[in-house]
Amino acid sequence: MTYKSNILAISGSLRSGSSNHNILSFLCGLTPADVHYYIYDRLAAIPPFDPGLDNEHPPEAVSELRSFINSATGVVICTPEYAFGVPGQLKNMLDWMVSSGSLVDKPVALVTASSVGSHAHAALLLTLGALSAKVTAGATLLIPFIRAKIDVNGDITDEQTEKALRDVMKVFLKEI
Ligand SMILES: Cc1cc2nc3c(=O)[nH]c(=O)nc-3n(C[C@H](O)[C@H](O)[C@H](O)COP(=O)(O)O)c2cc1C
Repeated sequence: MTYKSNILAISGSLRSGSSNHNILSFLCGLTPADVHYYIYDRLAAIPPFDPGLDNEHPPEAVSELRSFINSATGVVICTPEYAFGVPGQLKNMLDWMVSSGSLVDKPVALVTASSVGSHAHAALLLTLGALSAKVTAGATLLIPFIRAKIDVNGDITDEQTEKALRDVMKVFLKEI
């Protein structure tokens, strides 16, 4: 099947049973059949960023992710906040994307789902700006108190949050 567009979804949490992963699965369910939606699952394999290794033969996991991003029409990032900042492995991955320009003009939706999350959300918007990503207006969302809005099965139980996520996806699908 030929797809109209192609979304790459990246969770900033490596935790099994992650609420951010659950949100990405929920967004997958909102994706029409002619849009391919893939949840990236090798974030843990990205090595620590080393400018000395950022040459024409970067580590395999880095090349793979760059090619996933290059071929995606849009990227959705969904992440918690750790210690008032962006989870290290997510920021590390973004550092590898600077020299390749993979995110330049790439439509990006950003959801930060955390206990509070405002620091990570703001920091990510800054970083995505530095990478010249095209963060889609209306496709950014901060969801505080996430653990109280999701049940043990990973289903979103808060009506307002569910609606806000549907709105994000609607706007993003129009953009890509
Ligand atoms: C080491 C650690 C530090 C955390 N620091 C913060 C924080 O600074 N701000 C915040 O909003 N939540 C913080 N949290 C709570 C996470 O947001 C919460 O556990 C969230 O559900 C993690 O996302 P996940 O369910 O997708 O793994 C922290 C959690 C851990 C384990």
